[in-house]
Amino acid sequence: MATSSSPQRRVCVTGGGGFIGSWLVKLLLSRGYAVHATVRDPGDAKNAFLMRLDGAPANLRLFKADMLDYDTVVAAFAGCVGVFHVATPVPEHKIVDPQKEIMEPAIKGTMNVLRASLAMKVHKLVLVSSIAACIFNPDWPQDITKDESCWSDKEFCKETENWYSLAKTQAEEMALEFGEKNGLHVNTFCPALVIGPLLQHVVVNTTSKVLLYIIKGGPDMINNKFFSMVDVRDVAEALLLLYDKAMSSERYLCALDQVDLKDLLAIMKPMFPNYSYADKMVDVDLNITFTSDKLKNLGWKPRKLEETLAESIESYEKAGLLQVPDGEPCRLPFFFRPPPV
Ligand SMILES: NC(=O)c1ccc[n+]([C@@H]2O[C@H](COP(=O)([O-])OP(=O)(O)OC[C@H]3O[C@@H](n4cnc5c(N)ncnc54)[C@H](OP(=O)(O)O)[C@@H]3O)[C@@H](O)[C@H]2O)c1
Repeated sequence: MATSSSPQRRVCVTGGGGFIGSWLVKLLLSRGYAVHATVRDPGDAKNAFLMRLDGAPANLRLFKADMLDYDTVVAAFAGCVGVFHVATPVPEHKIVDPQKEIMEPAIKGTMNVLRASLAMKVHKLVLVSSIAACIFNPDWPQDITKDESCWSDKEFCKETENWYSLAKTQAEEMALEFGEKNGLHVNTFCPALVIGPLLQHVVVNTTSKVLLYIIKGGPDMINNKFFSMVDVRDVAEALLLLYDKAMSSERYLCALDQVDLKDLLAIMKPMFPNYSYADKMVDVDLNITFTSDKLKNLGWKPRKLEETLAESIESYEKAGLLQVPDGEPCRLPFFFRPPPV
């Protein structure tokens, strides 16, 4: 029988210190996996929590790796049968140099991960793409639910300077093609807006800042028809489900139903009445409904949005992130300001 540190159970998570990466590391440790987690700076205070996770002293190893540096990637994958490629920047501010800030980390970074997986004889690679690689497609009829066959239109992303979506779309396509061509088992995974409790509070990730903005309010307009959301803990569960069960080359969408911002506020305000909440809303005719039925058919059971919101807010309160600031107002991360499509 495989033990927690036997080769059959050793996997690598790239970007293990990030919001999604760290919840995945935590889940894998709890399920008895030996985990290699890559971080760019193991000495950074924001990564200190990783070695305090349950099971970490025995089963977690941190690897200093930059996805742009092949040698560091390949070293982190040594001895691993599985890889979860999570590491990609999620820009908070307007992108000034698309090539450097997002295209290179996403494309070259993913290619290094693919080549290193092949070289290290990794059995399965699960790539975290994004709903951003699915929904920006003007040819898809508004009234038809989007599914895994819907891809963002790269030309449209270029025209609209939606560099993040362009990068995620290109990287995901490339990974599936590479897998097919080289006999590498690749699955891609496209989550919607990921929110949920934080495991570390030193640096807050971009999408948690979106929910923080909705709670605190500020000067920026925000679309009433908002992106679908999903709990970070359910994302981690889904990634492991894919790793265990998905057939090669399969793509999976992962989201709860789209909720209007007004409905979101109607859930949060009675639970936590003491916050200002975002009130500058633009009503847009934006229907981005899509289905996660394929993932649910694998056995994915997401928790209710109410639970996610309540536990996120409790986590922010505990971290002191909801205190009224003295200085700069809270801002909505640039990517989420209207018009989103
Ligand atoms: N959050 C969402 O709503 C959402 C939705 C869909 C898809 N995703 C995808 O999920 C993944 C993780 O996002 P997140 O929300 O968890 O963001 P996050 O907390 O900012 O995590 C991003 C991670 O990527 C790492 N990274 C960035 N560039 C790197 C490089 N060149 N080499 C090595 N590591 C690098 C970061 O490491 P450092 O700490 O060293 O910067 C960090 O650990 C990304 O691929 C993102 O596109 C996120």
